[in-house]
Amino acid sequence: MTVEPTPTRDSGAEELRTERLLLCRPAPEDLDAIFALHTDPVACEHNPSDLVETRKEAELLLLRWSHQWDRYGFGYWTVRRQDAPEPLGFCGVKIVGFRRNAVLNLFYRFFPSAWGVGYASEAATAAVDWTRVHRPDDVVIARVRPENVASQRVALRAGLIRASDFDTPGDDGADWFYISAG
Ligand SMILES: CC(C)(COP(=O)(O)OP(=O)(O)OC[C@H]1O[C@@H](n2cnc3c(N)ncnc32)[C@H](O)[C@@H]1OP(=O)(O)O)[C@@H](O)C(=O)NCCC(=O)NCCS
Repeated sequence: MTVEPTPTRDSGAEELRTERLLLCRPAPEDLDAIFALHTDPVACEHNPSDLVETRKEAELLLLRWSHQWDRYGFGYWTVRRQDAPEPLGFCGVKIVGFRRNAVLNLFYRFFPSAWGVGYASEAATAAVDWTRVHRPDDVVIARVRPENVASQRVALRAGLIRASDFDTPGDDGADWFYISAG
């Protein structure tokens, strides 16, 4: 049985700022971006099981993300540049069960037009730093396909370390594990 995690409240999680980025709790107006990103075969190349076909499925995704926010006080953020309103992508942590423990799964997915300038590393670092302050007892994990080198780099840049002992066959092929140190 997985232990029920405790919520984190009043931690300022709904809006984080980094040097260039603004991370906000996803709102209904972000649905177009959620739909566009999760119907983009390039953005989902390594995780085709995350693809959606209909807006209804994207709505359900947003509903699930919002449910975690309501329940635990944190979750995935919509990531924007501070000087531009269009979402660049999404990044954050979600509670998942792993080996009978509740852990925080680090997620990041950005529009291909925003790749290669460090946004994912900047956002993922902010997310992991937030967990270190507000969820210090929780382990953070990232599961990455072996061929997804950019994602592996982001996990390392965010402060996670490679933990090959935990590698598993995942939904979309082998999952390489990265975990928070200490
Ligand atoms: C993975 C992803 C978030 C990286 O986004 P990004 O904004 O381009 O990442 P960054 O610019 O912060 O780059 C991180 C590192 O990856 C490297 N990198 C970027 N694209 C790369 C590529 N195609 N091949 C190899 N390395 C790459 C960068 O050079 C950088 O390396 P460094 O740490 O040595 O400087 C982005 O490619 C993406 O959204 N992919 C689709 C969704 C996905 O796969 N998510 C992860 C699921 S596990």
